[in-house]
Parts: sequence; C-alpha cells; structure tokens
Amino acid sequence: MTSPVRLALLGCGTVGQEVVRLLHEQSADLAARIGAPLEIAGIAVRRLGRDRGDLPVDEDLFTTDALGLIKRDDVDVVIEVVGGIEPARGWLVEALRAGKSVVTANKALLAEDGVALHEAAAEGGGDLYYEASVAGAIPLLRPLRESLHGDRINRVTGIVNGTTNFILSAMDATGAGFAEALEEATELGYAEADPTADVEGFDAAAKAAILASLAFHTRVGAADVHREGITEVTAADMASAQAMGCTIKLLCIAARGVDPAGRETVSVRVHPAMIPRSHPLASVGDAFNAVFVEADAAGQLMFYGRGAGGAPTASAVLGDVVAVSRNRLAGVRAASESAYAALAVRPMGEALTRYHVSLDVADRPGVLAAVAGVFARHDVSIATVRQGSAGGAPGRDGDAELVIVTHVAPDAALAATVVELRGLDIVRSVTSVLRVEGGA
Ligand code: NDP
Ligand code: HSE
Repeated sequence: MTSPVRLALLGCGTVGQEVVRLLHEQSADLAARIGAPLEIAGIAVRRLGRDRGDLPVDEDLFTTDALGLIKRDDVDVVIEVVGGIEPARGWLVEALRAGKSVVTANKALLAEDGVALHEAAAEGGGDLYYEASVAGAIPLLRPLRESLHGDRINRVTGIVNGTTNFILSAMDATGAGFAEALEEATELGYAEADPTADVEGFDAAAKAAILASLAFHTRVGAADVHREGITEVTAADMASAQAMGCTIKLLCIAARGVDPAGRETVSVRVHPAMIPRSHPLASVGDAFNAVFVEADAAGQLMFYGRGAGGAPTASAVLGDVVAVSRNRLAGVRAASESAYAALAVRPMGEALTRYHVSLDVADRPGVLAAVAGVFARHDVSIATVRQGSAGGAPGRDGDAELVIVTHVAPDAALAATVVELRGLDIVRSVTSVLRVEGGA
C-alpha cells in the first residue's frame, strides 16, 4: 500500500470528536477505499486539558498551534471543524495556497468569504470540499455540483436548520409558544446556550447562500440573502396556519427569476412561511432537514435526513476526506468553483409570494371596506378574508380579528400595505404577517 494520507484536524468538539472516532473505527475500510491509510498528523484545539471522553487517539497529537500544524510538510489534508470566520479563514487560505486539500463544515465562513477560499484553492491546486456545511449528513452539495451539472436548476426550497425545525414542529404538535418550545429544544441539547444564529436565521441564511451559489453557478454571499428568524412566530400564528390546513416552517428559498428588464436573476431568502400539510416539506419534523430541488429535466427531487449532530456531520466530513484523498493519490483535483453565470441577486422587495395578514380592527361598519381599500391601493389582491372576535372573546372591546390571505404580490407592495394599515385609526394592531408558500 502507498504511504499514508496525513490529516490535520482543526477542532475536536462535537463534530471533531466523531471524525476521530470514525477514522479509528473505519480505518481499514477507509484505507481500502482510498488506496492508502489515513493518519492523523495532529489535532488543534483551544484548550489542551479539556475532557474529550475516551477518544481513541494519542494525547501527544493535540496542540494549540493550529497554524504550525497546517504548515507542516507532512500534512496533506486539513479538516476544519472549528467554525467562525477568523482565525479559520486565515488557516484555510494558508493551507490551500500551500497546495493542501481542505475539508470544512464551516458554513459561516463559506457564506462570508467563500471567494477567498476558492481563489486560494485555485492558486494552490488542492481541493476545497464542504459537504458537511449544509444539511449535515445529507448528500446534497455533491449532487448539486456534480450529479445535476447536466441540468438546469430552477428552485431550491429547504428546511436547513434543525434547531428551528424542532421548535416549530413542537409548536405545531403541542400548541406551545416560541419561548416554551425553545426551552424544550435547549433542554434536549438541540439549541445551543446562545441560540441566536439558529432562531434569527443566520445559520440558515449561510446555508442558503451556499446552496444558491452551487445551484445557479453564481456567487451568492450571506449579505445577499434576505433573512428573518422565527422569534416572532406565535402560538396564534401556528393555530391560524392549522386552520388553513398548513403548518409553519423556516424555509430557505433560492429561485431563478427574470427582472423587469428581462434579465435572468436569482433571489435568495430565509424566513418562516406557511406551507400546506400536503407539501413534502410539511412532514419534515423534529430536528430533521430536507431540501426540495426543482430542475428542468430531473423534475422534483427531495433530499432528507439528519442535518446536525456530531456523527451525522462527521459522516459528511469523512465522505469528503475520502474524495480529496483519492484525488491527491490520482494527482487530480475536482472541478473548481463554477460561478460563470454571475446572475444578479434580486432585491427582496421584488420577490413574489403570498401573504397571511392578521389584524385587530374596530368592529364597525365600513372597516372591512377600508382595509380592503388599502390592499387595493398597493395592487395586492386579496384571496380570502376571515373575521372572528379579537382575542377569541366575542365582542371584546368592540374589536374584531381579520385574517386576510393574498394572491401573489411583490414583497415591497405587501410591506407598504402593512405600513399603511398600521397608520389607520380603525386598525388596533397588525398582529402578524407571514408568507404563504407551496400552493396553500
Ligand atoms: P464545537 O464548539 O463543539 O467545537 C469547536 C472546536 O474548535 C473545539 O474543539 C474547540 O477547542 C476548537 N477551537 C475553537 N477555537 C479554536 C482556536 N482558536 N484554535 C484551535 N481550536 C479552536 O463545534 P462543532 O463541532 O459543533 O462545530 C464545528 C463546525 O462544524 C462549525 O463550523 C459548525 O458550524 C459546523 N457544523 C456543526 C454541526 C453540529 O451539529 N454541531 C452540524 C454541521 C456543521 P476546545 O475543544 O479546546 O474548546
Ligand atoms: N445549528 C445547526 C442546526 C447545526 O440546528 O441545524 C447544523 O448546521
């Protein structure tokens, strides 16, 4: 057998520890598949003394000098499972420029500055693989960048954040509010101590940028993604969705479009949305992820599985390690970044979708007509109107609750409608505005 492929592992936390375990448990099979054994040259961490359980690895391999480890001549492949922008960016650029192959799970960095990494990979001639960065264990990026390269992808719709899917699924199943469901997610270890990146949609937005870049051969960064989280979704919103035969999911939607000048564009957004129970994504529960891809020739494809967790994520990392190791042994590298289409990213205001708007209004003659008039002035067509008693108490304070669902309209038109509604005396409050996707 040829000499080993030597690995530098940066990070040994939730994902890194499972990478070490899999490398140990599968070493013979991995060696057979690659044609050379994999060997850990070193493991960079922040705290040398941290308890990492009974990891099957020599303690002497640990170091706090990540850069020193990367620069070693006997390192072929750098695996980065630390996360964050710096120092990870500096490390990976250094490794790639030096001709090493990189495998990373770092979606935040790829969405923030994937360009720097791709350029460094092109300069050094090594591979840059990042299957684990989106939807954990689910093989998704390789299908997008290889299997579907002969087709034209039109739309990618996904649930790509496990924590928020757990929270929304719990709200749907039990009627719990957001805070209560978040508490449960934290107790069960799904949500982190600081859940901001998940519940505010930053994590999903980074993944959306990566998916859109690959699907549309266009550079899309985190800043190009319209992002809204789930913190404002209430138990009443979920009940309203259920009344319409829907549920609420945090969706990432990346779609081709055409702007008013006739140029092809992409739009990329992350926000909570009502989807009908009959939609394939509606049945994706718990902390699972799923991504629905629509392509010209392939039609509709759905990818489903575990999007987070040490072992599932390590599975994707190891798949990449096998691929880049084989490439090194064969003296080849994978195709580089494909961004030739360079489509313009369309502003959110031009995104077309439907809306579910709940209002508390004065319950007196002419109110419905006045509210409908505001929608009409902004060219937003109403599909259905439902009236009930505000707060569920008949005639409470003489108020009524209106639930209006629109036909498809530009986001900017709906936003302007809501601003004008909020300024009306007869409107006590606009209690919620949710987008409706998937033909509900
Ligand atoms: P953890 O926080 O569990 O682990 C991070 C590791 O990085 C720790 O071992 C830590 O060292 C080490 N580290 C942090 N800062 C430094 C530093 N300056 N120098 C050297 N080592 C450092 O993170 P995860 O394993 O959960 O996530 C890793 C990556 O994988 C992230 O990019 C994340 O987004 C991504 N990912 C995670 C998933 C998951 O389910 N957890 C799913 C998909 C992707 P020490 O142990 O000493 O503290
Ligand atoms: N925090 C992320 C999630 C981890 O909940 O999906 C996987 O990227």
